[in-house]
Amino acid sequence: MVDRLTLPRPDDWHLHLRDGAMLRGVLPETARDFGRALIMPNLVPPVVTGADALAYRDRIRAALPPGSRFTPLMTLYLTEATDPDDVVAAARNGVIAAVKLYPAGATTNSDAGVRVIDRVRPVLEAMAGAGIPLCVHGEVTDPEIDIFDREAVFIDRVLDPLRRATPGLRVVMEHVTTRQGIDYVRDGGPDIAGTLTVHHLLISRTDMLAGGIRPHFYCLPVAKRAGHRDALVAAAISGHPRLFLGTDSAPHADPAKESACGCAGIFTAPVALPLLAALFEAHGACDRLADFTSSHGATFYRVAPNRGRVVLEKPADPEPFPARIDTGAGPVTVFDPGGACPWRVTEIQEE
Ligand code: NCD
Ligand code: ZN
Repeated sequence: MVDRLTLPRPDDWHLHLRDGAMLRGVLPETARDFGRALIMPNLVPPVVTGADALAYRDRIRAALPPGSRFTPLMTLYLTEATDPDDVVAAARNGVIAAVKLYPAGATTNSDAGVRVIDRVRPVLEAMAGAGIPLCVHGEVTDPEIDIFDREAVFIDRVLDPLRRATPGLRVVMEHVTTRQGIDYVRDGGPDIAGTLTVHHLLISRTDMLAGGIRPHFYCLPVAKRAGHRDALVAAAISGHPRLFLGTDSAPHADPAKESACGCAGIFTAPVALPLLAALFEAHGACDRLADFTSSHGATFYRVAPNRGRVVLEKPADPEPFPARIDTGAGPVTVFDPGGACPWRVTEIQEE
């Protein structure tokens, strides 16, 4: 039986930190366990220029707990007005690690996103030339398409044509939720990777909807059938080098979620690593966890792995996880898939 796991300090390749009081409340939850995270740009207003990203990175750094070595890796929010030269300069100067494509209307704060892909063609071409990854929220927004089919349809209608039209563009299909998404990444060659969230590995749409509607299990892309969830788990534990962790931890204050029209987003940051350890252990795959959390993503993003380590153990009498985090912007419920999780992060080794 495995009762101790030592991982190189993990990276979270998809994280929402927000701004202001919410940022100050949630950032320590990620900075404690993770070495770096790729920070999503869907603020209001969004992070659209290199200068915006630099200013946001400064605000994040200022909100870090004293002594923290956490590194925020920034993204730009792609709009139809994005200037290719600004993107390339921001990447060259080390300000951004990627650009994010939100189809307009697909998710939280995506109204400024892209409506017509052809209008961002010059940006995509400049990114392909400079090797800058495009992170994609892969859902069509066509109201005719059932919400449970939006990812699979996106692959055929948008993602595949986009990649064929822009050879060499490096793409991350984020928060993959379907078998089709997994297959597309696996079969797609070296220029495409996929991230998987903790919650999509653990819950299905039935968990969200059976026995009462659970707003804290609601996110976008919405959780799919259990069969899709099982395909995600199989892919995560398979050790595929182009599949890695991006939590999509997305805090909203509880009143905004527990509402007649609740926001999409699940806050997993405080529990992400222990829940993953339990999942990989349940599948006899503890030896693959470090690749998933700490190595495959760094390789795709062409950065060295973090130097420190985190240790996970199973304490005899584990502290319960917090049910919610109190932030200056209100309480935020922490993801709880049910069942007991024996794992806890017990030690951080800085170098
Ligand atoms: C995210 C958010 O709240 O910003 N919500 C979510 O359900 N994942 C946006 C996103 O990544 O789609
Ligand atoms: Zn997200």
